[in-house]
Amino acid sequence: MSTITDAEFGRFQRFIYDAAGITLTPAKKAMVSGRLSKRLRELQLDTFMDYVELLDSGKAAREVQFAVDLLTTNETYFFREPKHFDLLRRLADEAAARPQAFRVWSAACSTGEECYSIAMVLADRLGDSNWEVVGSDISARVVQRARFGHYPLSRAQHMPVPYMKRFCLKGTGEQQGTLLVDRELRKRVNFSLVNLNTDLPRMGLFDVIFLRNVMIYFNGDTKRQVVARVLTMLRPGGYFCIGHSESLHDINTSVEQVAPSIYRKG
Ligand SMILES: C[S@@+](CC[C@H](N)C(=O)[O-])C[C@H]1O[C@@H](n2cnc3c(N)ncnc32)[C@H](O)[C@@H]1O
Repeated sequence: MSTITDAEFGRFQRFIYDAAGITLTPAKKAMVSGRLSKRLRELQLDTFMDYVELLDSGKAAREVQFAVDLLTTNETYFFREPKHFDLLRRLADEAAARPQAFRVWSAACSTGEECYSIAMVLADRLGDSNWEVVGSDISARVVQRARFGHYPLSRAQHMPVPYMKRFCLKGTGEQQGTLLVDRELRKRVNFSLVNLNTDLPRMGLFDVIFLRNVMIYFNGDTKRQVVARVLTMLRPGGYFCIGHSESLHDINTSVEQVAPSIYRKG
């Protein structure tokens, strides 16, 4: 198989921009070529152009999902950016006395570590009831892995030890070096496939929304549209957490910054 040409790369840039709002810079050419080569071989296609033509044909919806899975970057781990979990602890304590459920949405949740980290904090502070965690992502592959809740232990280096003991089963034998999130906790997190770049499904209002480490893949326009869409799901007074390397500086929003990477809706 030949290396990817500029024209082919241009077509994949357009494809993933239209599908997910993701902007692939020219620096990502080798990554795209590396990630797609195996799929071309599996489909016995000779060129990257053949593959992108298939994706653009409108007749290969499953393959489009497969390509989106391959072209998204899903790095994540438990208790990433811990300050947001300190905020959650405080908010959960404040919500303990109120009648309505405390609801959190992880809007680009990848393989689910973020959602289970949130769920551990809420189960710890609020007990068995009156809270809800929703996790969503555009990639079907990661959403499926999130539902399994089975991870390499290396992803849990930042998990507080008492949470590990209380909410995880450590693998033995063949499963050595892995952890399984406890079934009861898994049942408390609802995962779904949601593309933030299109109209959102009805999910009700949330007290806290995590939109972390996904805006870095969007250009200014897409970022503005996604943030506006996501913030319609935040209740007044609710909190919005973004990745530490991201910002809302160039965006007019209904939220006000209260700490680095933490915003609150008025
Ligand atoms: C680097 S991961 C971030 C995971 C987690 N939020 C964290 O901070 O650790 C970025 C995720 O965004 C997802 N993503 C990219 N474009 C998306 C879109 N348009 N809609 C929903 N999810 C998207 C990717 O599939 C990927 O799983």
